[in-house]
Amino acid sequence: MKLFRRLAIDLGTTNSMVWEVGRGLVLNEPTIVAIGTEDRRILAVGEEAKVMLGKSPEYIEVIRPMQDGVIADYEVTEAMLRYFLRKVMGTAWFMRPEVMICVPAGVTQVEQRAVLEATLSAGAKKAYLIDEPLAAAIGAGIPVSESFGNMIVDVGGGAAEAAVISLGGVITHRSIRIGGNKLDWAIMEFLRNKYDLVVGEQSAEDIKIRIGCAVRPKRSKKMEVRGRSNVYGLPKVVEVDSVEIFEAIKEVLGGIVNIIRETLKVTPPELVADIMDSGIVLSGGTAQLDAFNKLIAREIGVAAHVALEPQFCVIKGTGIAIENLDVYRKALR
Ligand SMILES: Nc1ncnc2c1ncn2[C@@H]1O[C@H](COP(=O)(O)OP(=O)(O)OP(=O)(O)O)[C@@H](O)[C@H]1O
Ligand SMILES: [Mg+2]
Repeated sequence: MKLFRRLAIDLGTTNSMVWEVGRGLVLNEPTIVAIGTEDRRILAVGEEAKVMLGKSPEYIEVIRPMQDGVIADYEVTEAMLRYFLRKVMGTAWFMRPEVMICVPAGVTQVEQRAVLEATLSAGAKKAYLIDEPLAAAIGAGIPVSESFGNMIVDVGGGAAEAAVISLGGVITHRSIRIGGNKLDWAIMEFLRNKYDLVVGEQSAEDIKIRIGCAVRPKRSKKMEVRGRSNVYGLPKVVEVDSVEIFEAIKEVLGGIVNIIRETLKVTPPELVADIMDSGIVLSGGTAQLDAFNKLIAREIGVAAHVALEPQFCVIKGTGIAIENLDVYRKALR
């Protein structure tokens, strides 16, 4: 048995992950907690809590404790972290691990302190913080320590963050509270307005993943969607196609493209020149949206490509950072 253990944690708006040095990814669960409405007692966490979404009685409240990449409910987040740590540590939970945890580059001092305190009181012996874009870049395999500008754009469920990295640090960054969730909501709104069809978030996400496209699709794909009529309240089935889904989400996507533009605007010209050479790297779950890189290349005029396993870049990079603490110590918060 190892005498001390080192973990990396990514508390995402939609998914939380834990990585252990020497083992790799050891936990990947939805960032959802079910608590008792009256006594605030934790009833279920992660996958177990997710199945209760939209289906729970009055005495159970199902919460997403992280919003826009930061802690929205401190107590619930701390309890969730404790649950994750216990689960990962197994019978050795009494051995308090060293933890590296990532935070968005734009967090305030107060938000940053909250993450640190929650991690420590959840059972970590020591806690380090790393900028999320830096972690994403490390996880995407970008040589972050070189004197060369690289741009990473992470688009998750709740937020999008663009950053330019050089010499192991974040030089410029911009973020916006727009992510995959907003795409789902745009699809829900479209279906209600055009077809009088009400669907849940899960169905909207399913439509986005199956036929969503970031640029106008050349060949349209169709899909049958089940829901309820808003006017009559009865079950209803509608066939939607990818062109109309593209129309429904394009404005939200425009907001994400905008933060890339704004980041480049404040970036020193030498680094912009580097980025024109190396291209823009995309990470986060939403980077998997069909043709997302095409949209960015077209709008920004710089090549863009999706990192390998984009949804795992941040956790992998955070894991690499704690594994090589000496190399990255200077870059930590
Ligand atoms: N194939 C896919 N196509 C489009 N979107 C996808 C796909 N797979 C997952 N997503 C979306 O990715 C998002 C989750 O991404 P990710 O796990 O990176 O978010 P997060 O880290 O929890 O959130 P954040 O970084 O904003 O706090 C969800 O909105 C999900 O619908
Ligand atoms: Mg994320």
